[in-house]
Amino acid sequence: MKTALYRKYRPTTFDGVIGQDVIVTTLTNQIRKGAVSHAYLFTGSRGTGKTSCAKIFARAINCASPINGSPCGKCDTCKALTSPTNLDVLEMDAASNNGVDYIRELRENVSYLPTSGKYKVYIIDEVHMLSSSAFNALLKTLEEPPAHVVFILCTTEAHKLPATILSRCMRFDFNLVPTEELYKLIKKIFDAEGAKAEDQALWHIAKLGEGSVRDTLSVGDRCMAASDNLTYELALKVTGAGGTAETASLLDAVVRADAGEIIRLVEQLASAGRSVSQISHELTVFARDLMMLIASGVNPTASVEIVEKAKDLASRTNLNFLVQFVRVLGGADAEIRYSTSPRIVLESALLSLCLAPAETVQSVAMPAVNTTPAVNTTPAVNTTPAVKFNSSPSSSVQSNEKSIENKERITPPLTRDGNAVAVLGLIRNKLRHNSAGLIIGEYGNLPDENVRLVGNKFVIFVEGGSYLTFTEPNNMREVQNILDEQGKGYVLTVERLTSGASVMSQILDALQGLEVEVVDGKGKTIRTQN
Ligand SMILES: Nc1ncnc2c1ncn2[C@@H]1O[C@H](COP(=O)(O)OP(=O)(O)OP(=O)(O)O)[C@@H](O)[C@H]1O
Ligand SMILES: [Mg+2]
Ligand SMILES: [Zn+2]
Repeated sequence: MKTALYRKYRPTTFDGVIGQDVIVTTLTNQIRKGAVSHAYLFTGSRGTGKTSCAKIFARAINCASPINGSPCGKCDTCKALTSPTNLDVLEMDAASNNGVDYIRELRENVSYLPTSGKYKVYIIDEVHMLSSSAFNALLKTLEEPPAHVVFILCTTEAHKLPATILSRCMRFDFNLVPTEELYKLIKKIFDAEGAKAEDQALWHIAKLGEGSVRDTLSVGDRCMAASDNLTYELALKVTGAGGTAETASLLDAVVRADAGEIIRLVEQLASAGRSVSQISHELTVFARDLMMLIASGVNPTASVEIVEKAKDLASRTNLNFLVQFVRVLGGADAEIRYSTSPRIVLESALLSLCLAPAETVQSVAMPAVNTTPAVNTTPAVNTTPAVKFNSSPSSSVQSNEKSIENKERITPPLTRDGNAVAVLGLIRNKLRHNSAGLIIGEYGNLPDENVRLVGNKFVIFVEGGSYLTFTEPNNMREVQNILDEQGKGYVLTVERLTSGASVMSQILDALQGLEVEVVDGKGKTIRTQN
């Protein structure tokens, strides 16, 4: 069987790692200077190189003569460590083994000296999956590790780790990789595999990766399997982007305000393996194509099979509606990415568009806030009124009233705010490079859409538990300082997007004694800047 590209092209030296320059420089410097710490935490988005770097680093610190901080691959130790049965670099996947027994065994074994190199390295992947008793056992070792032991903990979800563990590790936050870097890599791999591809097709693949190298390579794999002479059109077809018949039907259903059909089609697309954010993305791209068709008469729809469908749809809708459509989906995008039930977010976004019939949709200039669906509405199908329900035709006006009551609040749409993004940029820069070596991933991961200047309030919208480290007192103090330096009297405000008491109380705890305003998931100010 053919090896997946992402396996075949897993980098074996730091030179092969893309898009993580700061991390690579820091790690290779440590190797050059022989200044190795005893515990590392590699965190950040999926498929950005955490496990790969952990493996490279583990070999590099043991290599007899590292080259530019990477393992030479030739010395006895390097050779010994490539064998999966070696006893010096031990990898454990906490996702499949969260047992405290394993960690206990680990604690018994750490005292044995390494057999070939200088260090015994324990790579614990998906470390957030360890049970709390396993964490406790691990903590004891982290407190007093033997000199020859190095731990590398990897996770996408650092906020799930106990603070006691976090504080003992040197933390590295892996960034999403820029599209251009992904493009260069995928181009190199196509060349290496002797596969031809149009440049536009390669860019398309890189874009679909959305910052994850692994995802990019998986998409590349699918495209390469389809043809060894990949055209853009074929790439679109293989990846289901640029408008498929199903996307066209779904948009059609929204235009016709056919709720039953919307739910059915979302279901159908999702069970065909499309991720919710992909569906949303495809819809947006298709709607944009339709706008072009209406505005300029040019049909940019790439796949021939739906050209006619696009023409037909274009004749039944208008620019106002499409602008609204794109805006609503854009607003739902961040929510889709971070929600635990992304499908409900998408469904309610689409259904909310049915509330106003297409031809009476408000003018384009209307503030987006009135058009964005509330994320908190319970399953969309029960709350959406006045539209055609194939399944339950009786629920109409009455459910309309009910839905308004049920809505806890209209969630502000998450759209980029240029000024706030600029300030956030300052915050990111400063905190990423401050002298204490503080690297705070959540600042990096916090999407631009989640900050907004409202009057003099610098509002950070937090969702789920994912930005909790953002609200650690030290971080907040730093943020406050940066805001103060702007001299514009900005008031820092933290606002929850969803209700739920547990995270809220953690946020409140973290913000004690700080001049930060806090707004809960129902839009209520629960603490003012004192
Ligand atoms: N920064 C990178 N440079 C080059 N290749 C990369 C990079 N990140 C990931 N890859 C590719 O993606 C594959 C998966 O990467 P890796 O396992 O290191 O990601 P990860 O960050 O640990 O992901 P996860 O969070 O899902 O565990 C690798 O085999 C490699 O082919
Ligand atoms: Mg990994
Ligand atoms: Zn070596």
